[in-house]
This record gives sequence, structure tokens and C-alpha cells, in this order.
Amino acid sequence: MPSPQDYVKAHQERFLEELFDLLRLPSISADPAYQGDVLKTAEAVRQSLEQAGATHTEVADTPGYPIVYGEKIIDPAQPTVLVYGHYDVQPPDPLELWESQPFEPVIRKTERHPEGAIFARGACDDKGQMYMHVKALEVMNETEGLPCNVKFMIEGEEEVGSANLGWFVERNREKLACDVILISDTGMIDNDVPSITTGLRGLSYVEVRVDGPNRDLHSGLYGGAVANPNNILAEMIASLRDADKRITVAGFYDKVKELTAEERAAMAKAPFDLEAYKKALDLPAVAGEAGYSTLERASVRPTLDVNGIWGGYTGEGAKTVIPAYAQAKISMRLVPDQDPEEITQLFKEHFERIAPDSVRVTVTPHHGGEPYVSPIDSAGYQAASRAMETTFGKTPVPMRSGGSIPIVALFERELGVKSILMGFGLDTDAIHSPNEHYGVFNFRKGIETIPYFYRYFAEEKA
Ligand code: BES
Ligand code: MN
Ligand code: MN
Repeated sequence: MPSPQDYVKAHQERFLEELFDLLRLPSISADPAYQGDVLKTAEAVRQSLEQAGATHTEVADTPGYPIVYGEKIIDPAQPTVLVYGHYDVQPPDPLELWESQPFEPVIRKTERHPEGAIFARGACDDKGQMYMHVKALEVMNETEGLPCNVKFMIEGEEEVGSANLGWFVERNREKLACDVILISDTGMIDNDVPSITTGLRGLSYVEVRVDGPNRDLHSGLYGGAVANPNNILAEMIASLRDADKRITVAGFYDKVKELTAEERAAMAKAPFDLEAYKKALDLPAVAGEAGYSTLERASVRPTLDVNGIWGGYTGEGAKTVIPAYAQAKISMRLVPDQDPEEITQLFKEHFERIAPDSVRVTVTPHHGGEPYVSPIDSAGYQAASRAMETTFGKTPVPMRSGGSIPIVALFERELGVKSILMGFGLDTDAIHSPNEHYGVFNFRKGIETIPYFYRYFAEEKA
């Protein structure tokens, strides 16, 4: 019987080829034109679980895209790990900025991935990371066997708000019963600085609309006499943050938990190179809330950002109009203990209050999500920490992330189980951006690390 390490070495080329097949399927959940590909991807994931040794697999229907379920129960008396991931991906736009086709994976070297990285939409978020878990199951199955039970729940609507995951969890509580949830859908600090994510931000997402005259007007005949929705929207948005870049929505900070001096000191110890950060983004300077570091601004502080804004004439050349309306999409990243529904309500009231009486405004809420923090003294965290220490030779650093995985708070509420966020991506892997990639090193390290998680978790629980 080969050792797990030898097995990974002997089979890593095939593992990569299989991942490439998965990456070739454009499972874009946001675009109905790709419905067939999303469904094909679900079936491909199911098959891969079956081939990896899951004894029961299914593509479970929901009112939206299906959830792939798989399990291998070695002994009901043993602890159970539930793996969560997603097989859907973000749209690849803007296409012209990709150096290779988003759904034709290729390996290229980068500065942070000298061994090469897989370039494709979903390479890191989340197909590459999710597939490490499928291959880790195969590795355990073909070598030392599983030290505990495993269940997989891989969804296809994460990138569009996981609208039906709650529906599925409610109806399958028994089936999903577990002792810990293991997720690789986040990042780590660097390939030689392993870290484990201990917090995620929540999200409130709204669309706003400012209506003025009942049609686009000649800006000479009417300009100056009627309110211009573009001007008004710009003024309103500008007023949502003050000179210190603090959000002015009344009540916004009421429930924000400030970090203690010790927590801030611990965060400040995490390796962070501001010059490299600026260089990677081609930025002349960083910007954000006064009194906080870049790491704090991007993880433990709430934000308000305009994701899209439009109105009036945006075509070729000049057209002199006062638009009938202007619109914007606004996201607010939330931190403990902000409540997404409450923040959305506060935003709506505030936005309606500051509107001048020359226009009408509408605020439409989209999906949201709760923030999350996990303790580092749990069996799950300790197992992840020992696993990474074994394969990286260094104790991982706990780190709070700025991204959101709204279902993590839902799992805790519905299943009463904490999630361990053991991600292997890097912040420069360009998730959601053109040229998304995932390190070959990271893919292999993940497959090597995951079996240790199972072993140590079973030990910690015993
Ligand atoms: N995997 C990401 C979230 C993430 C990435 C967390 C890196 C931490 C580090 C996930 O797929 C994602 O994109 N989430 C969305 C949330 C959403 C669509 C409701 C996000 O954060 O914008
Ligand atoms: Mn993801
Ligand atoms: Mn994503």
C-alpha cells in the first residue's frame, strides 16, 4: 500500500487533468444561457465523488440549481466531517482582458506561483479548491482508509447568493448531521505563510434608483431648472461616507464589535507588505477608513461600495440630455454583530431621508449574508492547524477575511455546527477577475493536507 504522499505524487498529473475537465464546463450560475452547463457540472462532480470512493452519491434537486451530495460512512459511531464547496463560477467578463480563454485551462508560471498556476474561471473559486477534497477522499480511500465519516455538499448557486441552500438544509437536517464543516473557499497569506480563516464579513446588497422627469430632456432647454438624477445620485452617494471614510448611514456602526487592543496587536503581526500590495494592484496609494490599517480595513471593518452606476447617455460621442433616471448597485460588507436585514433597513430609511424633494428614490434589497467568526480552540480549528503544520512545516496564522460565504452563519444556525475555513488560495489569484488562477503547488498541498485534517479531527474527538 503506497503512503498518501507517494499516492499524490504518483497521480498528480491525472488529478490536474481531471480538474481541467471540470474547468472546461462553463458553470456560470448568474447567466441562464449556461443552464445546461451548470447541470452537466453537477453530474460531473457527482461522478467524481463516486469514482473517489463515496458509497452514496446523488444530484439533489432544489427549486434552483441542484446540490451534489455524497458520503462515505465508515462507522456511525465515529465523528463526521461535512465538506462544503461550490461548483458554480462567476461570469468571466470582461473577456478581452483574459490572456487565455477562461474555459480552456492552461498552466503558466507567475511571480507568486513559480511552479505554475492553472488559469481558468473557477480555478481557485471554487472548483480547484473543492476538487482537492474529492481527490483527498480518493487518496485516503486508496491508501490508509478513512479515519472518520465524510459527507459532501457541493452547491451550484454560491455565486448568486445561495438562495436555495437554506431550503435544502432545512429538509435534510438528518442527512447533513455532522461534527464539523470543512470548507476550502478562502485564501491563505502566502505559500510559505499558511493561515486559517477565522472570520468572514457579512453582506447587505441594495439597488437604488433616482427618478426625475418622465423622459430624457434636452439639457439646454431644461438644464438648471429641473433636478438631474445623475447629479443627485452622485451627490447622495458621495454623502454616504464622510471625510474620514466612515459610513454616514444613521445607526450603521451601532452593533459593530470593535477589536480589543490585543486583537489588533495580534493582527498587526501578520506578515503584510504594503508596497507589494500596491504594486500588485498598480495603485499609487491605498485609501480607507481613518485610523485603521489596510489589513483591518479589508477584514474587520464594514464598508460601503458602489459596484455599478449608470444613467443617461453612455454611447459614442456627446448627447446633451438630462436623464429621466439614474441607478446604482451598492454593497455593504458587514462585521460582527451587524445584522444584514437591519442594515438594509437602515440604509433604505437613510437613503430615502436624504433624497431632495425634486426626485423620487427607490431602494430594492438583494441577497445578503451574516458575518461569521470562529474560535481557535475548537477541535476543528486544532485539527486544521495541526494538518497545515504537518504539510507546511509551520503553524498557520489565524486570519480574518474580508470576503463573504453567507451559508457559514446559516450552517451554524440550522445545524449547530461551526465551519473550518481551510483555504489555499492567494489574494493575488484574481478570483472574480480576468485571469483567475490557482497554484499547482496549492492544489497539491491541499490534497496532501486534507487527509491529515481527518486524522487529527478523529483524534481530537476521540
Ligand atoms: N469564495 C468566495 C468568498 C471568499 C473568497 C471569502 C476569498 C474569503 C476569501 C465566494 O465564492 C464569494 O465570492 N462570495 C461572495 C458572496 C456572495 C456572492 C453572496 C462575495 O464575497 O462577494
Ligand atoms: Mn467561492
Ligand atoms: Mn466567489
